[in-house]
Amino acid sequence: MKIKSANYLQGTIELPGDKSISHRAAMFATLANGSTKIENFATSADCASTLSCLEKLGVEIKREGSTVYVQGVGKTGFTAPTEDLDCGNSGTTMRMLAGILAGQNFNSVLVGDESLSKRPMQRVILPLQLMDAEIASEENHAPLRITGKNPLRAITYGSKVASAQVKSCILLAGLFADGKTAVLNPRSKKPTPNSRNHTELMLKYLGVELEEQYLVDGTDFIHKITIDGNSELTARDLNVPSDISSAAFFLVAGACLPNSEITLKNVGLNPSRRGIVDVLQNLGAEIEILDEREVCNEKVGDLRVIGSASLTSKPESNVLKGDVISNIIDEIPVLAVFGTQLENGLEIREAEELRVKESDRISAVVENLRRMGATVEEFSDGLRVEKSKLKGATIDVYHDHRIAMAFAIAGLFAEGETTINDAEWASVSFPAFFETLERLKR
Ligand code: S3P
Repeated sequence: MKIKSANYLQGTIELPGDKSISHRAAMFATLANGSTKIENFATSADCASTLSCLEKLGVEIKREGSTVYVQGVGKTGFTAPTEDLDCGNSGTTMRMLAGILAGQNFNSVLVGDESLSKRPMQRVILPLQLMDAEIASEENHAPLRITGKNPLRAITYGSKVASAQVKSCILLAGLFADGKTAVLNPRSKKPTPNSRNHTELMLKYLGVELEEQYLVDGTDFIHKITIDGNSELTARDLNVPSDISSAAFFLVAGACLPNSEITLKNVGLNPSRRGIVDVLQNLGAEIEILDEREVCNEKVGDLRVIGSASLTSKPESNVLKGDVISNIIDEIPVLAVFGTQLENGLEIREAEELRVKESDRISAVVENLRRMGATVEEFSDGLRVEKSKLKGATIDVYHDHRIAMAFAIAGLFAEGETTINDAEWASVSFPAFFETLERLKR
C-alpha cells in the first residue's frame, strides 16, 4: 500500500464495532440461555476467528453484515469439536476460550497462526491448572491441548499481569467452578480497573452478580473480582460501540494536520479504554466529546478532532508510564508516531507488555520510525521519540495490524511516499482502514 502525504482530513465516519467487546458479545451470547442479536459486531478477522471457533463447538450463528445472531447453548450445551479450533491471530480468542473450554466435559485443541503461537500462554495455563484443568502446551505456547473438567476447583488467584484477557479467562473458568473464584489484579494507584473491564460490565448486563472490591494496601489498590460458579447468563440483545482503538489512528492524524476536522460517531468511551483521548488532549490535541451516553453498560459518545499547526503540551505530559499504560496499550504504536510531531517528543516507559503483542511492538515501532528518519531511543520497557521531520520509507509491519495502520498515519506527515508492505494485516482489526483513510484525505 502506497501512502502519500495529506493536506488535511475531513469528514464524519462511523467505525466498525469494538474488537474486544465483539469477542465478549459472541462468547457470552453463546453461554447465555436464549438467543441474542448483536448489532455493530466487529468486521475484524480476529472476531471472525471467535465466531468460527464457536461454530465448531456446535453453536448456531447467523451473520448479516455487522449484525450477528447467536443461539445460546448455556454453559454446558456445547458439542465436542471434531477438529482443532483455529484462533488465527487473536490472543483474546485463545485466552478467553481457554477459560470456557477448561470447564467442559470434553477435550479441545486451540491453535493459532505463527504470531499467536509465539505469544505467552503461561499466564492462563497456570491459573487453569490450579483450577484442575489439564492443559498441555508447547513450552507454554499454543497449541493448547485442553482436557476439560466439570466442575473445576474454585480458586483465588493473584495475577501478575494487568491483563483483561487473563482476568476474563479466569472469570469464565470460574463459571464452571464448585464455589466462588476470585481474581486479584496487580496493584494500582487508583481504585479503578487497571485493565479493560468489558467482561465485568457485560457479565453484569447479562445478569451475573460479580462482586468487585478494591483492597487497600498502603497507598495502592488491588482490584478483586469474584464470580460464583452457580451463575447463569441471561440472553439480552447487545449493541457494540465503535472501536476507540481504531478511532485512535484518525484522532492522531486529525490532531496533527492543520485544518482537519473529523467527527467519529458512536465511539466506545469506557473509562478503562479512553486513556488515548485524555493523553492526546494533555499533549495538545483538540478533541471534543459530544453526546456522551450509555449503551449496554458501556459509555459511548461522538468524538470531534480539530487539526492544529502547533501542539503545545505541559512537559510532564510527555512521559507516559504507570497505570495509564494498560489503558492505552493498543494505541502506543500510533502514539509514538504522534510523538514525532510534538515539540518535546514523547517517552513511553513501563510498557514491556508491548514486546509480547502481535509483534514486538517496541522494536517494530523503533525500527520503522528510524527508517522514516526519526530520532528514537529504544529501552527494554519502551521508547523515546524526538520531534522529527519524517520522510517516506518502506515499512515492515511484522504481521501486526496496528503497525500497518500506525505507519500509514506516519506516511501522511512524511515527505515523499511511504510503502506499507503486507498492508493487508490491517484487516485483523479494521478491514476497511485504508478505504476509510482515503475517503477522509484532502
Ligand atoms: C484485550 C486485552 C489487551 C489488548 C488486546 C485485547 C482484550 O490485551 O492488548 O488487544 O480484548 O481483552 P491483554 O489482556 O494482554 O493486556
